[in-house]
Amino acid sequence: GGTSMRLTLVGTGYVGLVAAVCFAKLGHDVIAVDREPVIRGLLENKSKVWEPHLEPELADVMAKGRLRFETSIVKSAADADSLMIAVGTPTRPDGQTELGHIHEVLAQLMQSGTCPPLVIIKSTVPVGTCDELEASLLAAGLHTEVAFNPEFLRQGSALHDFTAPDRIVLGCKTSQAETMLRELYEGIEAPIHVCDRRSAELIKYASNAFLAMKISFANMMSDVCEGYGADIRHVMNGVGADRRIGPEFLSAGVGYGGSCFSKDLQALLTTGKLIGSKLPLLEATAKVNDQRIPRMIAKLISLWGNPLGKRLCVLGIAFKPNTNDVRDAPFLTLLAQCERHGIEVQAFDPVVAHVGAKAVKVMDSPYTAAAKADAVLIMTEWPQFAELDWPYLLHLMRQPLVLDGRNLLPDSMISQIVAVDDAVYVPVGRPMECSTSVREERP
Ligand code: UDX
Repeated sequence: GGTSMRLTLVGTGYVGLVAAVCFAKLGHDVIAVDREPVIRGLLENKSKVWEPHLEPELADVMAKGRLRFETSIVKSAADADSLMIAVGTPTRPDGQTELGHIHEVLAQLMQSGTCPPLVIIKSTVPVGTCDELEASLLAAGLHTEVAFNPEFLRQGSALHDFTAPDRIVLGCKTSQAETMLRELYEGIEAPIHVCDRRSAELIKYASNAFLAMKISFANMMSDVCEGYGADIRHVMNGVGADRRIGPEFLSAGVGYGGSCFSKDLQALLTTGKLIGSKLPLLEATAKVNDQRIPRMIAKLISLWGNPLGKRLCVLGIAFKPNTNDVRDAPFLTLLAQCERHGIEVQAFDPVVAHVGAKAVKVMDSPYTAAAKADAVLIMTEWPQFAELDWPYLLHLMRQPLVLDGRNLLPDSMISQIVAVDDAVYVPVGRPMECSTSVREERP
């Protein structure tokens, strides 16, 4: 093993909690800090974060004494080699990034008059933030370097992504900071990309913007495929086989959601605006994404005729499989638009038991959600949705209409679906398929 460091980590949200567990697993002594109710929830096993493998790994590092929880930042930072900050940095309605939570953490350290020699910002922050934070610490008499170390983990595969990342980005000013950061990550096999802090801050935004742009590109092309009877899966497979492009993040569907892509795109647009740059690729990326749900609704309406009083079964509530996170989920947009059209929604998600919104009934099985529905819409690619008893599910519905918003169902299942009388299967970016009875109806 390498050098064991004493790390205090502030913020136990998705990124903070996963980082705390993984750094503890690497052999460091980690104290994770958050507000009292959050820590109490964590200790009572009522974490808001649902992530595969997280619970047992958390229990393991706690049992080994490598990770403990605290509520006082000042007390936990007193003996630490470095302090990592992984608190939320949401985008305000005016497009600026809210750094209030980071400032609060630093304010407590400034008041106490002590601070570890290295503060590592893990939260996504606008370019120039680390320079500013370091200057304000210095003005308070604290000689601390503020480094930037972005996190690229995806929800649903967070532990894997953290321990086997494509790269580690270290934005720092001095070689001492670089050395400490390298020690922190010792044991993880990944290329380490060291650069100045401003570049590192931009790497995070540019990466998310580029991924969102890939998705919007695939979605845009899927509209072309629908218009000309081509298959978006073949098109994107053919495109992605070019190593300069790469095969990932080219799946068309209902659009991207989640707390990162939209937020970071908006923040980067604001960053551009502040220097008079419009960043039109980002504007187009967001615009294409915003059209996805209206397009799904338009498909439904064209198949139904009048949408008023129709019942829609939705499979998948969270913004993607393997997470219970509903923030910025396309489902919420769908729900609002269904409400406007008078469409009733019954939804099911394997790990979401309820949604804040009123206009939806969350059911405890896909079959109860499909009862008397006029269509079923697959919103997320949970593998178990592909393994449902689809002929039975269709039999429970008022109208056997399947909209596959993620092109999830395999051909074998689609054949079973269109073997049902009157059934119609509507994928994204490729021709729809229907039962012979429907084909006869529409010559
Ligand atoms: C993303 C980035 O991937 C990660 O690097 C960053 O740290 C945080 O933001 P996350 O939001 O957890 O991670 O999920 P991700 O797997 O990237 O998916 C985001 C959204 O894009 C989901 O709604 C997903 O369904 C959608 N998506 C993804 C597509 O619509 N098509 C694709 O091909 C890939």
